[in-house]
Amino acid sequence: MRGEVCVAFASVLAFASMLLMIFVHVGQINTSNVPRGISMAVVNMSGYGVALQAAIPDTLFGIYTTNASAPLGDGIGLRQLYKFGLYSHCAYVDSKNGTCANQTIGEQFRPYDAVTSDLPANYSLITASILPSDITFRDSKYLGQSSKAAYWMLLLGTICTAIALITGIAKNNLTFFVSTIFAVAGSILLLIGASIWTVIVNKTASFNDHLLQLPNTTAPIGIDISAGTGLFLTWGAFACLIVSVVPYMISCCTYRG
Ligand SMILES: *[C@@H]1O[C@H](CO)[C@@H](O)[C@H](O)[C@H]1NC(C)=O
Ligand SMILES: *[C@@H]1O[C@H](CO)[C@@H](O)[C@H](O)[C@H]1NC(C)=O
Ligand SMILES: *[C@@H]1O[C@H](CO)[C@@H](O)[C@H](O)[C@H]1NC(C)=O
Ligand SMILES: *[C@@H]1O[C@H](CO)[C@@H](O)[C@H](O)[C@H]1NC(C)=O
Repeated sequence: MRGEVCVAFASVLAFASMLLMIFVHVGQINTSNVPRGISMAVVNMSGYGVALQAAIPDTLFGIYTTNASAPLGDGIGLRQLYKFGLYSHCAYVDSKNGTCANQTIGEQFRPYDAVTSDLPANYSLITASILPSDITFRDSKYLGQSSKAAYWMLLLGTICTAIALITGIAKNNLTFFVSTIFAVAGSILLLIGASIWTVIVNKTASFNDHLLQLPNTTAPIGIDISAGTGLFLTWGAFACLIVSVVPYMISCCTYRG
């Protein structure tokens, strides 16, 4: 009877982990309620208009668009909020309304490219000259490659979690052994994926000690970057899965079915 409880406990944890990862995967695939709320990183551009104004003597026109359905990447105008998921990124003109870019497997986190491709061409050029060149935010190659690598880790981690859950259902010592192995492998993969994302979001967010490259101004950069709920869910999935290793291991060694 104790063995049964142990297996049930492990299965609940592995199931919770898989569920969390499914939520992470649907983040930003479209703008309906649940996917809208889940992202790996959030880039708030609402303060950037002020920074840009500091660089230009004339009053600015058309930096932002209020058209929620305008396509991304066409220089139509900046949106207030950019959210990045594993398959796409979406941009929002307010808390609810926005539009998403095309979906790609292993979407790369390239926030600088996303925002400059939305800015009208002349403002995009000014942005290139006033943002410090050594900030990670501008290092699209590094961010793109890291996020793509992290994507594969998270996908494989999710698959391992599913295998651990499924093999754990057939009750015998061999399948519990297989579950243990996959729970361990999945935990490692989720840990690597979540760590990469945490590092790149933190690096991108640190504009500290950086100012606009303008003479006689101390205007802040006005771009606010933070980790999205998807990243916290990923850490939660990792936590559930690594805890499930213990009961899987106990079941594998002690189950007498
Ligand atoms: C974005 O930043 C502005 C200030 O720059 C703030 O007022 C607003 O609440 C932020 N939006 C979100 C969704 O965090
Ligand atoms: C908003 O953008 C869509 C898609 O480009 C376009 O069809 C529509 O006319 C635009 N609406 C306004 C008010 O400009
Ligand atoms: C997005 O997909 C549509 C339809 O497949 C295509 O016409 C468009 O060029 C794509 N946009 C980008 C930016 O790749
Ligand atoms: C910056 O300030 C200094 C001293 O106040 C002034 O001499 C200089 O012309 C200013 N430069 C610009 C580009 O406004």
